[in-house]
Amino acid sequence: MSALPSPESERRSLRLESWLGAGSFADVYLGALRTPRREDRPVAIKLLGPTAMLSQACQRDLIGEAWVLRQLDGPGMVRIVELLRVEGQLALLTEFVPGRSLAPMPSTRACADAAGQVAHALATAPRGFLHRDIKLANLRLTPDGRVVLLDMGLAQIDGSGAGTNARLAGTLGYMAPECFTARPPTPAVDVYALGATLFALVTGHPLWGRRERRVARELRSFPRMHRAWRGIRLAEVTLPALAVLLDQMLDFDAARRPCAAEVAARLARMSLPGPSLRTVCASVAWPDEPQSIGARVLWEDPV
Ligand SMILES: Nc1ncnc2c1ncn2[C@@H]1O[C@H](COP(=O)(O)OP(=O)(O)O)[C@@H](O)[C@H]1O
Ligand SMILES: [Mg+2]
Repeated sequence: MSALPSPESERRSLRLESWLGAGSFADVYLGALRTPRREDRPVAIKLLGPTAMLSQACQRDLIGEAWVLRQLDGPGMVRIVELLRVEGQLALLTEFVPGRSLAPMPSTRACADAAGQVAHALATAPRGFLHRDIKLANLRLTPDGRVVLLDMGLAQIDGSGAGTNARLAGTLGYMAPECFTARPPTPAVDVYALGATLFALVTGHPLWGRRERRVARELRSFPRMHRAWRGIRLAEVTLPALAVLLDQMLDFDAARRPCAAEVAARLARMSLPGPSLRTVCASVAWPDEPQSIGARVLWEDPV
């Protein structure tokens, strides 16, 4: 005998509140997860776009993303709530991280504090963890001064997780030179991307602009050319200790880059001008909560 369907009031449901952002394959919405007899819980809902929905590889990647998220529990990493199938479609639910993007950041000290938190999150992540897409768009700053790393869409632990079939994984302007070779990636790719992110935060513009991205093939193949170009870009960073650290994080040779723990320690020790990240957070304006679009869907099966 089949079970009677439970009354709607006893079923869990998701309410889509508003659109938060999009990447290449997915849209992310703010939503509320309603559980019988419990308060609504705000969540970020990642749904594959219509073309990605049809692709087995994209679906596998979303499942891989959930698998990696389940193994992370540090304060600097977004937390998974659940992977669901809603109306036949995979939906990855993570905690909603309130706040805003990191940029613009008005003080160099605050930029270093933010990058230091990311370095600490990487240093304390499970062994074998690689994010592979660290950049400003994948970081969020909360009103209490916490920096949270989002988007495990390419992340892996010991080679398993998301993006395992991608030939090139990452975002061009943040990818370390070895990402363009057949060599397997190491944690040094995240240190390089964090260096590019910190550069963008401090100077207000990307490390590799449109012009450099056009010659990216040469830059990633020739260490001397990479060094010369890097030198020109880093001349914009006038604080010597910070410029030296960035130069090392962005070294062409992965083996010469400092590890994430060393980056965190050096950033914390560095004497830099301006208020701390906490002070900045207490004085900046925070965006209002997005307006509700109020669409409601019933939850179906956990995956
Ligand atoms: N948990 C979250 N809390 C708040 N905003 C989020 C959350 N997850 C994603 N976002 C927003 O949605 C955007 C896209 O999400 P992301 O996970 O990076 O998707 P994609 O893999 O498509 O790049 C992010 O840049 C961010 O602005
Ligand atoms: Mg993203």
